[in-house]
Amino acid sequence: MISYTTFKNARIHYSDQGEGRAIVLLHGFPLNLQVWEEFSEELSKHFRVIAIDLPGFGESESIGYFHSMELMAQCVHEVMRKLNLRRYIVAGHSMGGYAGLAFGELFPENLRGLIMFHSSSYQDSPEKKLDRDRSIENIKKRTKTFLKAATLNLFANPKDEHLKKVREIVSKNSVRGMVEATEGMKDRKDREIILRFSEYPVLFIYGKHDKILPLEKMLPQTEVPRDTETVLLKNAGHMGFYEAKEESLNAIIKFANRCFRMPVE
Ligand code: MLT
Repeated sequence: MISYTTFKNARIHYSDQGEGRAIVLLHGFPLNLQVWEEFSEELSKHFRVIAIDLPGFGESESIGYFHSMELMAQCVHEVMRKLNLRRYIVAGHSMGGYAGLAFGELFPENLRGLIMFHSSSYQDSPEKKLDRDRSIENIKKRTKTFLKAATLNLFANPKDEHLKKVREIVSKNSVRGMVEATEGMKDRKDREIILRFSEYPVLFIYGKHDKILPLEKMLPQTEVPRDTETVLLKNAGHMGFYEAKEESLNAIIKFANRCFRMPVE
């Protein structure tokens, strides 16, 4: 079911499928909730699955001119509050995971588990921040070229059907939304400490051939949470839910069942 709500006077778009215990899916950059379509369909056979277009993406409107990870987390919290859901798992892909960790900082009592799907607790390096400025220029001035390269970079060995689909999806995003989120990612703080004090289990899923968040740089943080699991996808880049769909699904279902079986204080 496709639905809309409002957050800070902006229209927010989300999908809500399945029944029972809930998992929230947060898309990465420069994507939107449509990337989860097939994945949500499968997951909703086991759980209630809510996928949200983060502010400025897909059919969700922008809020002001800067989308911090905290703002995204507050938006997720508001959607879930309106659905009367109190305890759930947040699964964030890349930028969605940055927002997921901000959620873990602001609303830890709502989390039963956190899934960092090709994502990171580290802040941008000084070089990456410069890269972000170049990206912003390119998003504004050469949108099509930027999106062509950005989508190609997501995959280890892109299949034509995957590229075509993802390119169609990103073409629906607004320049303004992509700029606001890039500013937000550039400004985000390091959140390793949130992992360190997490009172919920954390699952990390990484692709061995990820060109955006290289595996060797990501691995140290997987040791940080008290209750931690890591799944390495041998044949994936940054898009495990396309490139290694079954493996990713199985990992999430197993993890979620474990989280939901744990007693709630
Ligand atoms: C994403 O996939 O969400 C972004 O590429 C993450 C980033 O640029 O840091």
